[in-house]
Amino acid sequence: MARRKKLYEGKAKTLYEGPEPGTLVQYFKDDATAFNAEKKDVIEGKGVLNNRLSEYFMTGLTQIGVPNHFIKRLNMREQLIRACEIVPLEVIVRNFAAGSISKRLGLEEGTPMPRPIVEFSYKDDSLGDPLVPEEYIIAFGWATQQDLDDIVALALRVNDYMSGVMYGVGIKLIDFKIEIGRVYEGDFQRLIVADEISPDSCRLWDMESGQKLDKDVFRRDLGSLADAYTEVARRLGVLPTNVTHAPKPTLIN
Ligand code: TMP
Ligand code: ASP
Repeated sequence: MARRKKLYEGKAKTLYEGPEPGTLVQYFKDDATAFNAEKKDVIEGKGVLNNRLSEYFMTGLTQIGVPNHFIKRLNMREQLIRACEIVPLEVIVRNFAAGSISKRLGLEEGTPMPRPIVEFSYKDDSLGDPLVPEEYIIAFGWATQQDLDDIVALALRVNDYMSGVMYGVGIKLIDFKIEIGRVYEGDFQRLIVADEISPDSCRLWDMESGQKLDKDVFRRDLGSLADAYTEVARRLGVLPTNVTHAPKPTLIN
C-alpha cells in the first residue's frame, strides 16, 4: 500500500497530504514540549485527548459561524482539515494575567485584564516566537492592516465562545493562543482559525480551586498532564473511549 505523504512535522502534530485537493490530515502526537522544546516528554494519551478537544471546540465555532479549518475527525488521533496558508503569527488573547505578561509587567497571575488583550508573536522557533507590534507585522508583510483587523475580530469571537464554554463547566479561561490560515476562494482570500484549540494552547483554571488544567501542569511540573486534560474532556462530555488515562467507570448502587 502506498504510504501517504508527510508534509510537515511540528512539535505536537504532523500534517499529511489529504484524500482530496485542498485537504490535509492532521495527526496529534503524544509529544509535549515547553520553553521552545527545551523541556520534552511523551504523555501517553495526550494526542487522543487533544484531537477530541480540538474537534469539540472547532465544531462549536463552526456552529456559531466562526470559520475554521476543521472538516471531520477521522480516527482517535487524526482529523481532516482544510489546507491553508498559515499566517506566521501566534495570536494570543488574555483575560487574566499569567505567564509571559505576568513576568513582563510584574502582574500577579490571575489579575483580571482591563479588557481582553490581543497580542502577536512572530512564529519562529529559532527566535523563540518573539512578541511583535502591529507595526512590524505590516512593515514586514506578514499580514496587512485589514488582515489584522479581521484577525482581532476572529480572536475575540473565539475568546467569547471559549470563555462561555469553559465557564459552563466551572473553568476560567485565562488566556489562549490560536493560529490563523488563509484560504482562497476565487479571487477572494478568507481568514480562518487553524492549527488546534486544546489545553496545550490555553490556560485553564478550575473556577473554585484555581487548579491548573492545561500545559502549565507540564511546564511547571505540577502533576499529571494526562489527568488534567482528561478532566477537561470529562467535564465537556467528550471523553474518548479507550484512553488509558480515562477514569474507570464506577458502579453506582
Ligand atoms: P505566554 O504567557 O507564555 O505568552 O502564553 C500565552 C498563551 O499562549 C498560553 O495559553 C500558552 C499559549 N502558548 C502556546 O500555545 N504556544 C507557545 O509557544 C507559547 C509561548 C504560548
Ligand atoms: N509550544 C512551545 C514549545 O513547545 C512553548 C510552550 O508551549 O510553552 O516549546
